[in-house]
This record gives sequence, structure tokens and C-alpha cells, in this order.
Amino acid sequence: MIRVNNNFEELPAVYLFTQISRILAKYKEEKDALPLIRMDIGDIPGPLPSSVARAMHEAVEELTTQESFKGYGPEQGYAFLRNVIAEKDYGERNLPIDPSEIFISDGAKCDLGNLGDILAKDSTVAVMDPSYPAYVDDSVIDGRAGKLVGNKYSGITYLKCQSEKNFCPELPEERVDIIYICSPNNPTGSVLPYEELEKLVKYAKENKSLIIFDSAYEAYIRTPNLPKSIYEVSGAKEVAIEIRSFSKTGGFTGIRCGYTVVPKEIVGYYNDNTPITLNTLWNRRQTTKFNGASYISQKGAAALYTEEGRKEVREMTDRFLKNAGMLREMFEEAGWKVTGGVDSPYVWVGNPYGWTSYETFEKLLKECGVSTTPGSGFGEEGEGYIRLSGFNSLENTEKAIDRLRKILKQS
Ligand code: MLT
Repeated sequence: MIRVNNNFEELPAVYLFTQISRILAKYKEEKDALPLIRMDIGDIPGPLPSSVARAMHEAVEELTTQESFKGYGPEQGYAFLRNVIAEKDYGERNLPIDPSEIFISDGAKCDLGNLGDILAKDSTVAVMDPSYPAYVDDSVIDGRAGKLVGNKYSGITYLKCQSEKNFCPELPEERVDIIYICSPNNPTGSVLPYEELEKLVKYAKENKSLIIFDSAYEAYIRTPNLPKSIYEVSGAKEVAIEIRSFSKTGGFTGIRCGYTVVPKEIVGYYNDNTPITLNTLWNRRQTTKFNGASYISQKGAAALYTEEGRKEVREMTDRFLKNAGMLREMFEEAGWKVTGGVDSPYVWVGNPYGWTSYETFEKLLKECGVSTTPGSGFGEEGEGYIRLSGFNSLENTEKAIDRLRKILKQS
């Protein structure tokens, strides 16, 4: 008998975005379906920045000669990329992160799940509610979530994020081991100000908790003085791992490359109280289970730090922010509750009619051919909301706005 991981029994049968894709595939077969405009999953419409494309072509060329061919690379990532990240993403902001604390990955989502390997199986978990569904699903798969009771897992602490508090999370009332924080937030689009991060770091230090800080959308922050990294808070290096991605900054959703910072100051303990740094454990885990991101994708990612690459990142993120801003304005004019779309590519909207998330999702899909993500898929507190993404062409965004405006007027 093949015995399987029982924890899967506690998971919803399909992942949120898989479920939405299935609904959309059915919609497209309907005879009066409008041409679909996808504003659900945050996928990049392209094109790839030229600096990245050139660097990747060059990397392929290098692989074609014996002298410059590359086989297995360092599991932690190539020094050329780790060094430039340390210098530009952190050094330029006076944040002392050593290249040996940076681990290149094949994307933020993989590392979010893989980090569970180095933490005790019975660790307790807190997530923001609403939050990116992978935090909860990963915790379920690892056996940290307990039983599903209604819409919630018995072993997870849900940190309510409500509009009155600009979607900042409440602190856990009791001690938890792991706290997932995402800022700029997916899905609400809100950014945690410095004081909020400071409170979280203080809590983590007092309670000896670990913060897993998902900073995949930091390149979208435009408002001055909003923190882009948790390490802007003093002492955060003792309690926080930071995860970043090139998906939403360089169009790497298909190429796959990101990185995780595991500071050497974070110390964990075995059952017999022997201390060990999480950096050592993560390195051990990666060398066993990962052979490094591809040389080609790492060369492409390094190009994002050149002068040309940085300009292209700015242009790309500006483009998606503009789309998100237009969506935001349209919903605001119609009297819907809106956040995001300013320092975030996501717009989070609550309808004023008491419709559920799925009712709104279905209405916008059927009547406008615009797909969104139902807010309740991100947690109980997301009920009544939908999320729209600015990752689209300007033309598609304008077309979607035209269609949406008509039905917003009628409602
Ligand atoms: C989303 O739509 O929430 C993201 O694209 C998902 C992801 O980054 O994996």
C-alpha cells in the first residue's frame, strides 16, 4: 500500500488560482462569452526587458563553447548575482546584508514552501487575513495547520487585517513561532508603514518568533519613507527572513528567479537546545535539495541591476502602476471601497451592495468578460472583496474599464 501525506486531506481540492483558471476555461467555451480580459492572477504580459533578453542570449552563447560552458552552479547562486543584490538592493539603502546571507532561488513561491523544511514540524503559524494562499496551504502540507473548521484551520492564528486599520495586521494574542507578513500586501495592496513593522519585529524578539517577510512587490513602492525591506527596522536581522522575486519587477514569472535572505543572526534550537543558525540549516537544505537556479536566468536577473536594467524595471513597474491607478479611480468614482493601486500593482475593492466575493467575481466575468480574484479565496476577512491586477497592457486595461464602467453605472 502506498501511504501518502495525510495533510493533503486537509487542503482544499485545488489551489485558488487553479480553481479560477478552471472556471475561466469553462467560461471561454460559453457561446456568448466576451473575449476574456484577465485581471485575476498577477501574471506579467511581457515583453521581457531588452537588457535581460540580451544577457540571457549571451549566457546561452557562453554555454556553447567548452571554455565557458557551465554545468552545476553553486546551489546558493552565482557570486555575480549575490554580490550585486547585496550592493544594490541593500548596500545602497545602508542595510548591511552580506552576499553569503543571500540565496538565489527559482522563485519566491518555491522558497516560501521550502522554508518549512528547516523549521520544527510542530511550529505554530500566524498569517495575515486576508493573505496570499500559499502561506496557509504550505503550512497545511507541512502539518502545521491542524484541522479545517469552517473556513479556518484550528492550528493557524489569523491576524485580522481590516479596512479601518488600513489592512495592518493585529498582533497575535498568544505566542506563535512563525509569522508570514507580506508588504506591499498581496492581495490588499496596502503597505505596512515603519511603525507597524517595528511592532512586528518587537513582538518577534520578545516572543522568539520568526517573521517570514514576503517582499515580492517592493519595487512598486513610490510613496517616500515607506519601508521596502524589513531590515530597515533595527534588530530585524535577528528575527526575519526576507523573500524577493524578479517575477513582478523583471517579467520573470515564466523564467523563474528570486532570492531569499537568511541573516546569520537568526538562531534556532534543536530539541536538545543546541543552537544552530538558520543560515547554516538553509544552506544545508539547499545543497541537498536544490541545484541552483539556471545560469541563464541568473545572468538575466543580474542584468536588471545595470543602469539600463534599472531603467527598464522602473518603466515596467510604472506601466502596471498606471493600470492599477486607473482601475482604482474607476471603482472609487463608482463608490466602491478601494485600496492598493498606489504602491502596489493590485487593487482591492469591496462592493457597496453586500454581494459576496464570488457573486461579484461572477457578475464581472459574465457581464464584462473581466476575470478578477474573489477576495474570500485569500481568507475569511476577504469576503465581499475582489482583487484586480494591473499586470496588463494599457489597451486591455482601458477596454476592461470601458466594460466595467457600464455595469458599475447600472448597479
Ligand atoms: C498572484 O496572483 O497572487 C500571484 O501572481 C501569485 C504568485 O506570485 O505566485
